[in-house]
Amino acid sequence: MHGNNNKQPLVIANWKMKLLPEQAFDLAKKVKKSSAKYTGAEVVLCPAFTEISAIANIIKGSELKLGAQDCFWEEHGAFTGEISPKQLLAYDVHTVIIGHSERREHVQESGDMIHKKIRLLLSLGMRPVLCIGESFDERAEGQKEVVLLQQIHAALDGLWLTDSNQLVVAYEPVWVIGSGQDIDPHEIEHTHQVIKQALGDIFTSAVVDEHVKIIYGGSVDPENVGHYMRQNSVSGVLVGTVSLDATQFSAVVAGAIKF
Ligand code: 13P
Repeated sequence: MHGNNNKQPLVIANWKMKLLPEQAFDLAKKVKKSSAKYTGAEVVLCPAFTEISAIANIIKGSELKLGAQDCFWEEHGAFTGEISPKQLLAYDVHTVIIGHSERREHVQESGDMIHKKIRLLLSLGMRPVLCIGESFDERAEGQKEVVLLQQIHAALDGLWLTDSNQLVVAYEPVWVIGSGQDIDPHEIEHTHQVIKQALGDIFTSAVVDEHVKIIYGGSVDPENVGHYMRQNSVSGVLVGTVSLDATQFSAVVAGAIKF
């Protein structure tokens, strides 16, 4: 039995910057074909911004949802190269990944930037997917929980969740992303409990139960997904590499439903 508000497992596909337009369209069409079998899971596809509009059309009429990999922290204005959450909303995008470790590393996305993005998304009634995770060295030095708590507090302190707000926190250990490595499901459960406690300190545990999902990401595949989803505090998965193959991705969704 699941320990939080999660009724349906949440499966988010993060296609990163890995597909050219035709490849993304082809993948979306294949995923759409399989999606009739996804009853029982909420499945969100996050293509690159350049494909959002076309994929919104491709998945029309299915239960699939569209998400984005990032957005800016202002609604409108002179911000060359940035994308407003309001522009995303126009394509029915409600779910936005924020603070992925690749952005923290490659474009120096800071806790303050992440905080401002989440604040704006919540104010627009959109659903941020806050990514947190420790590096290999931080874990080796016994700093995992310290790092996670810092990331959570930097992102969320001073915010609150109204009745219309939903928040997702994705725990993605940086050293597992793209590695093909399985990790001990009990370690994931323990870490999710720590995260849940920290979120409860910020929002109250009643609000967390009602409005927050904690999901896991990092080399999720059809074999390990069931082990992860079976954990009490794991409400879904954030999938990178495997989400680029429609057959494998469908197997992950099926595994997440059946666990
Ligand atoms: P992989 O599934 O390739 O490890 O990527 C995970 C990830 O970063 C999803 O956001």
